[in-house]
Amino acid sequence: MSAVTEARRPVLTIEDLTVVYEVEEPVTAVRNASFQLAAGEILGLAGESGCGKTTLAYAVNRLHKPPARIANGSIVFHDRGGEDIDLLALDDEKLRAFRWSELSMVFQGAMNALNPVTSVRAQLEDVLQEHRPKMSKHERRERAADVMRRVGVDPSRLTSYPHELSGGMRQRVMIAMAMILEPQVMIMDEPTTALDVVVQRDILREIVRLRDELGFAVIFITHDLPLLLEISDRIAVMLRGEIVELSSADEMYRNPQHEYTRKLLASFPSLSGSRGSFIRTGIDTGIDTEEARA
Ligand SMILES: Nc1ncnc2c1ncn2[C@@H]1O[C@H](COP(=O)(O)OP(=O)(O)O)[C@@H](O)[C@H]1O
Ligand SMILES: [Mg+2]
Repeated sequence: MSAVTEARRPVLTIEDLTVVYEVEEPVTAVRNASFQLAAGEILGLAGESGCGKTTLAYAVNRLHKPPARIANGSIVFHDRGGEDIDLLALDDEKLRAFRWSELSMVFQGAMNALNPVTSVRAQLEDVLQEHRPKMSKHERRERAADVMRRVGVDPSRLTSYPHELSGGMRQRVMIAMAMILEPQVMIMDEPTTALDVVVQRDILREIVRLRDELGFAVIFITHDLPLLLEISDRIAVMLRGEIVELSSADEMYRNPQHEYTRKLLASFPSLSGSRGSFIRTGIDTGIDTEEARA
């Protein structure tokens, strides 16, 4: 199914999500966040450092650890079969099976998260072995080579160890790992921030192309709003833990509503010209923005 025909189905609904760090002076890092993610959509999450983007990403994947606590709200995943899965109700075992298979995450600084003492092949095949135990060794090898090709790394690199790869290649391997089980949703937290601009653009183009090809949805997190304007279908802007504006990338560029969004846009002088759009192809998510914001 193409990304376009499937675009209208929601895959994730987040309502009133509140995450608190229970430290001496509790910090409400995410406050009443609500949004819906459509199948095949790239939803950008923007906002300056410290506004709660990473906290939100971890909570959605239930990877948050104490002192972080989900104080309120719901996270519901709508699977391909039409079943609604309440992520906050899953036990640990179900959660483990769910993660990577349906919803995967590329962390901030993930390129340094690869295990230094095992080959790229072993790390990719480990994920398959754990989640697809019926796959033969031959199928695992094929699948590992296939995802490497898809993210633009020659499969001959499968025998490499992480230190033998450039930062850009390591990040591509992390993306390969995140998509190896064909999840419906990938959350990417500043996946390219540490890379130089040219490598960053190459990888972004690759992510958009893969989305077009495979139809997964992406929550793409960065403080870099111009970048989001180029790759996202819709963008949510966060300010001190709250989503203060959520609209299509075009709407946000042409007609930003919130004062903070206008300030963010104005802080990037490169945006005074026309909006770059050579990366993004764009889909119609079919989600009514007003409704999603309400
Ligand atoms: N372990 C923690 N304990 C207390 N406060 C934290 C912790 N981690 C993050 N925070 C606070 O939560 C807020 C949001 O942080 P974060 O989600 O990392 O923001 P972003 O990813 O947008 O930079 C910040 O004010 C940060 O100081
Ligand atoms: Mg962060």
